[in-house]
Amino acid sequence: MDIQETTQAIQNITCDVLIVGAARGTTEQGIQLSTAAKTVDELLHGLLTERSNDGEFKGNLGEILTLHPMGQMGAKRVLVVGLGAQNSLTTQSIRRASAITARHAQSTGAHQVTLAIQWYSTTIDDVAVIQAEIEGALLGCYAFRKYQQAEQSNNGKGVTQLQVFAHNTNKSTLEQAIQQGRILAEATNAARDLVNEPPNVLTPSELANRAVAMAKQFGLEYEVFDKAKIEQLQMGGLLGVSQGSAQPPQFIVLRYRGGAATEKGLALVGKGITFDTGGISIKPAAGMDEMKGDMGGAAAVIGAMQAIAALKPHINVTGIVPTCENMPSGTAYRPGDILRIMNGKTIEIVNTDAEGRLILADALSYAAKEGFSPIIDLATLTGGIVIALGSTMTGVFCNDEQLTNDIIAAGQAAGEKYWPMPLDEEYGERIKSDIADIKQTGGREASSVTAAKILEHFVGNAKWAHLDIAGTSYVDSKKPYQEKGSTGVGVRTLAELVLRLAQ
Ligand code: BES
Ligand code: MN
Ligand code: ZN
Repeated sequence: MDIQETTQAIQNITCDVLIVGAARGTTEQGIQLSTAAKTVDELLHGLLTERSNDGEFKGNLGEILTLHPMGQMGAKRVLVVGLGAQNSLTTQSIRRASAITARHAQSTGAHQVTLAIQWYSTTIDDVAVIQAEIEGALLGCYAFRKYQQAEQSNNGKGVTQLQVFAHNTNKSTLEQAIQQGRILAEATNAARDLVNEPPNVLTPSELANRAVAMAKQFGLEYEVFDKAKIEQLQMGGLLGVSQGSAQPPQFIVLRYRGGAATEKGLALVGKGITFDTGGISIKPAAGMDEMKGDMGGAAAVIGAMQAIAALKPHINVTGIVPTCENMPSGTAYRPGDILRIMNGKTIEIVNTDAEGRLILADALSYAAKEGFSPIIDLATLTGGIVIALGSTMTGVFCNDEQLTNDIIAAGQAAGEKYWPMPLDEEYGERIKSDIADIKQTGGREASSVTAAKILEHFVGNAKWAHLDIAGTSYVDSKKPYQEKGSTGVGVRTLAELVLRLAQ
């Protein structure tokens, strides 16, 4: 995507679509136009005010009013986007509004889009608004069409040029805002690509290839452990889960060094099940195709490492991805098996569909042994979190209150919602085993909590947070702001968190 800034007067900006924002005031106030929207209204002799007085446009978040200037402006079309209630305006309203409108512009044939959503208010600074605007537009225009023939895929010609209108922002701050927005959105879209790839293409080895290609492009150090090395490290969880598959497991390590050589830094760990059939405890057929997305945590970590490499914060960050398939076969692991994890603890298997915690147990043991802190893992781990929080919020299980708050705050800035979940010791009762150190599952009740309690056994003394993204990683129907499939959740929050921890 070509992204430029423009300081031209609104009237002179030539493009297919000009996007301006308007919020909803109090009932007496009615619609509240941003500076750019006001200018458009004047240029079009009050058309916008007239249309809204008529009830055609109310300023609700994501609402779109299309105006045709008919030569009175350089823009062929103006899309006025609603920003929701003026008194609850956030950068996320701007990001959402930008995504919805850019997506609408693209679906109605626009190639050149100018963003002038800017809301000149005292509560949100212009730079954050511009960054959110860019992020939103790039996220909204995302499509995954590589397996469709050209005519179905819009001929590859969606929005190709974004112009950002910013008439009174300092040039270098403006460029930084654009750059940061682009980095975060592109990394999110890279993660979405990984999740949306079909599981016959994105095998564990291919996931490793893609991670390595990204590492080379962005200048990260990388290592990929093959099965022999995984055996040598005695990663019994990853070996057990993968043994039913014809695809060998892989263990990917990506290193970004921006901090002192003496500091270990933090680790980001992502569940990388490239397809989850459930194994011998096989899943029902309906919806099983969505289990290609069971590497959403891995994708988030790889995407976040890409963003971090581009943003260059002064801190060391290591990305860790255990990856394999969970398949049923004559060589598959069974309920009743006992697996020994890298840190020596044994787990009694009761359901081969609870595979994520087993490969994460090895990855967390590895991270803890290396001495990283904090360790943050992301995983499409449990159906239970989908029941608890739906697709709106990611559950945070964390042994450190400050880290919990930091994650929630970073998420807020990034436009992703997180909610704290318990790790109370009483839940540990449910995963006691008669014949091994721990039992793999704690039954239906509080299943996302007992899954987190299993993980807790493998983090040693590290500060640790587990983000269960099973509900937030994938949308099963298209939304005004994004298409069906991967959301890329976690990438922007992790990048934002790392930027903050580096301060
Ligand atoms: N990958 C699934 C969890 C999942 C569910 C992800 C829905 C995305 C959407 C995980 O491996 C799984 O199968 N979990 C089971 C565990 C159970 C058998 C103990 C679950 O939570 O139902
Ligand atoms: Mn499973
Ligand atoms: Zn799974």
